[in-house]
Amino acid sequence: STTPVKVAVTGAAGQIGYSLLFRIASGALLGPDTPVELRLLEITPALKALEGVVMELDDCAFPTLAKVEIGDDPNVIFDGANVALLIGARPRTKGMERGDLLEANGAIFTVQGKALNDHAADDIRITVTGNPANTNALIAKSNAPDIPAERFSALTRLDHNRALAQLAKKTGTPVTELRKLTIWGNHSATQYPDIFHAEVAGKNAAEVVNDQNWLESDFIPTVQKRGAAIIEARGASSAASAAAATIDHTRDWLRGSADGDWLSMAVVSDGSYDVPEGLISSFPVTTKDGNWEIVQGLEINEFSRARIDASTTELGEERDAVTALNLLG
Ligand code: NAI
Repeated sequence: STTPVKVAVTGAAGQIGYSLLFRIASGALLGPDTPVELRLLEITPALKALEGVVMELDDCAFPTLAKVEIGDDPNVIFDGANVALLIGARPRTKGMERGDLLEANGAIFTVQGKALNDHAADDIRITVTGNPANTNALIAKSNAPDIPAERFSALTRLDHNRALAQLAKKTGTPVTELRKLTIWGNHSATQYPDIFHAEVAGKNAAEVVNDQNWLESDFIPTVQKRGAAIIEARGASSAASAAAATIDHTRDWLRGSADGDWLSMAVVSDGSYDVPEGLISSFPVTTKDGNWEIVQGLEINEFSRARIDASTTELGEERDAVTALNLLG
């Protein structure tokens, strides 16, 4: 098609933006034959830095980049958007309580939810990367009553990819031989990476690994705390890997998951696996043509049950907190 797909990105002058925009512009999200229009949102003081990023985008002369718009008004930037990648968020600063963090982000995601509701294209698909991602997605969704709830998602693909990398290393198998891994719950330290249904070269991953101590004391905490380990090592939070995961997530949502495999995406719960209805929680999903379905019928053992429950309890507490702050529209 020759009509560019409009991709809105918030927090575009940030770390993740700097990795993400060049890949989208070069066709990594929509393919080499689809022109893309980037619509970039920033806060006013960051617009000058964003102009610099746009100069660099120009200088790449990407054949697939049709146009770039920048601005600080979500009502303008989200106009006609087909895809929205909500990356910009308020980070936790020293002395900030969890309630302050939820409130500061609530101020951003209520406004952006309403702006998407009023201005995005009818086929809009929304991916929230900015933290706390699941609850930010819940706030945006609740403030966009005209957009179907299933168009909102939060990113747990980075966690999924991190878990794939750890499992590949442990089993000495390339990631291409791994299938059906699942991240359940919240994108936080309570998330649960589940290998009981995963496959390593067609065999059950938990049986191939056969090492409960590794699972409990190494694999799960390594995946849960990987974000902190990156900050410790790099002196800055993960950005290139978060950008890559944001692209993987959104590309697979639009273009479909592979046969015989599934993805991890945080989407609105319909009560599957006893995850309370309405929470935006990570599930195993298959995707096709911009739609997702939660994989049904998996047997959940006691070990997994306790961990899924712990993470969805945390999500319920976050929902209660933002409900009390009147952020759910
Ligand atoms: P950053 O601080 O480098 O960039 C964030 C940008 O967002 C800044 O340029 C800021 O000006 C902008 N921004 C703030 N409020 C905004 C608003 N209302 N509208 C538009 N732009 C706004 O942060 P970085 O490293 O790019 O990370 C972005 C977010 O992604 C953070 O919340 C981070 O915690 C989260 N993250 C999520 C991951 C996930 O797996 N879900 C992984 C890594 C990071």
